[in-house]
Amino acid sequence: MSSRNTRTRPAPRPAEPPGVPARRAALRLLDAVLRRGLALESELEAAAGKLAPSDRGLAHAIAAEALRRLPDLDALIDSATARPLPHDAKARSALRIALVQALALGTPPHAAISTVLPLVDGGPRKLVHGVFGTLMRGGAALPEVPTLPPAAAERWEAAWGDSMVGEAARAIAAPPPLDLSLRDPADTAAIEALGGESLMPGHVRLPAGASVPDLPGYVQGAWWVQDLAASLPARLLGSGAGKALDLCAAPGGKTLQLAAAGWEVTSVDSSESRLARLAENLCRTGLSAEVIAADLRSWEPGAAADAVLLDAPCSATGIFRRHPDVLHRVRPALVAEMAALQRLLLARAARWVRPGGRLVFATCSLEPMEGEAQIEAFLAENPDFALDPPSSDAMPADVGIDPRGWLRILPGMLAGQGGLDGFFIAPLVRVR
Ligand SMILES: C[S@@+](CC[C@H](N)C(=O)[O-])C[C@H]1O[C@@H](n2cnc3c(N)ncnc32)[C@H](O)[C@@H]1O
Repeated sequence: MSSRNTRTRPAPRPAEPPGVPARRAALRLLDAVLRRGLALESELEAAAGKLAPSDRGLAHAIAAEALRRLPDLDALIDSATARPLPHDAKARSALRIALVQALALGTPPHAAISTVLPLVDGGPRKLVHGVFGTLMRGGAALPEVPTLPPAAAERWEAAWGDSMVGEAARAIAAPPPLDLSLRDPADTAAIEALGGESLMPGHVRLPAGASVPDLPGYVQGAWWVQDLAASLPARLLGSGAGKALDLCAAPGGKTLQLAAAGWEVTSVDSSESRLARLAENLCRTGLSAEVIAADLRSWEPGAAADAVLLDAPCSATGIFRRHPDVLHRVRPALVAEMAALQRLLLARAARWVRPGGRLVFATCSLEPMEGEAQIEAFLAENPDFALDPPSSDAMPADVGIDPRGWLRILPGMLAGQGGLDGFFIAPLVRVR
């Protein structure tokens, strides 16, 4: 028998105690965002097959809350160590995970630390245990309003002033509400069954934490999940009167709105996996659209459209409440890279609008380079287009229309009712 056949396999890793796989996954997620600059959501999707759904949910909750609270967690850790731990040290991330559970997520301290210590086995276990114990005995607490990472705070202060930075910090202190867009805004039975608050026709706001598939009307496709701010770009196109192109369409909230409003919709996106979610959403709601998987840098439509919506890829800093990784990994170089792609896509999208037709450009970004500066440059180069602002009555209370004709949605808007995602939306018309 050859030696290859007699070689013994390495012993399988012993099963970890309950609770540890979720914390190990949370540690990997933090590392992916903070050290490798990757998006939390895509890392979570990549981990999907390797974790039980409940562990995946817990890992996401721990990592996201640690990212919301990172500067305050680090300040606590630094207050209890003689010499600061390196920012990418495993011990620091293990402590972040233990502390955020004990101080923000309601995990009993003994469970928070006992499920984290195996992550530093063979390493600084004693240090992690000691720092955690010192902080707990000393009555450590996190501030009511989280501290934003300095790079994001400085960038936003320069763009919007210091009160916006305070509002952004308050916006991550509590989980954002759940917004639903109704397939039929006149469906009073669906609105009554859901309860909640309606801030615009066809909108229902529920408190955070609801289990989406268990809500009334989910199976019947009576609504879909969509932040109120994210619903505004398609609302600006009004009721359907012809052909609409939804560009960068997946996972499809705006396609559903346009189809429900009567447009004959063609939806284009380059991501097959995100388009699969769009197809599921169309199927659940019984709405229809032609769906095309293509890169918009080379795709061309057969004919000009009456309306074009470009919900362009961007830094996504406006959705920092649900995706707090953007607070840490978005840097000016990424914003500039996304702005260059938007400029190219916008120039192409503009060519596909018929004279007299409308074009809406939107980004879920709080960076002026992906909003105001983008549209000013576009208008300077495209005299066939003009801004076409809606009447302010058509917008939710608190959402003002900029005198220049676009909508800039900042974190403080509707703060008393749960807030809004940050957005930039430019409604344009092709005048000739
Ligand atoms: C902001 S998201 C779109 C959200 C979507 N409009 C909605 O309401 O659900 C941006 C989308 O742009 C797509 N995208 C990025 N680059 C693209 C390209 N070159 N061509 C086509 N789609 C692209 C991404 O796959 C992503 O789905």
